Amino acid sequence: MDDSVDVRNCQRCAALCESRSRIVNGVGPLDAELLFVGEAPGAQEDAEGEPFVGRSGDVLTDALRDRGLAREDVRITNCVRCRPPDNRDPTVEERENCRPYLDREIAAIDPAVIVTLGKVPSEQLLDRSVAVTKEAGELFDVRIADEPRRVLVCVHPAATLYDPSQRETFETALEAAVELFDGGDQSRLGDF
Ligand code: URA
Repeated sequence: MDDSVDVRNCQRCAALCESRSRIVNGVGPLDAELLFVGEAPGAQEDAEGEPFVGRSGDVLTDALRDRGLAREDVRITNCVRCRPPDNRDPTVEERENCRPYLDREIAAIDPAVIVTLGKVPSEQLLDRSVAVTKEAGELFDVRIADEPRRVLVCVHPAATLYDPSQRETFETALEAAVELFDGGDQSRLGDF
């Protein structure tokens, strides 16, 4: 628990207060160079209190490991911190309610690159509609939390499970993200 970025209690979304077991805060170092932003917790994340620990989390963790990065080397969070009922997409209002928490986290981490996993976080952070498959791997300069930030669009890891043709798009975008900060301070597993 980190008081500077974690949310302990929040009652802003009546439906999500009902559907959640707990608030799922981001995990990973506060000085991470790579920040992954997903949509909202699913059933497993809600049960464990950690983002991306279900099947799509395995896809992300494996893809990081294949590039010499441990999951613990990066920061992982979501646009919305509470599990929506029936795994529906979070509403615009829910995303807006949770946005100050995301902005606070982004400001605290100040990552070199923010990787948006799927449509919801891509549209939230780029503030426009995004064709994720088409724009995956592209880097955009945007102002977030009062600073210029670099946002790299990526398909959601779950998309690779539903549609194996998305795997290459996902891997290519992830490769681009890792290359962007390669040579920075963070260690690669392979160095040890
Ligand atoms: N999908 C997301 O977008 N976030 C999670 O934490 C898990 C699955």
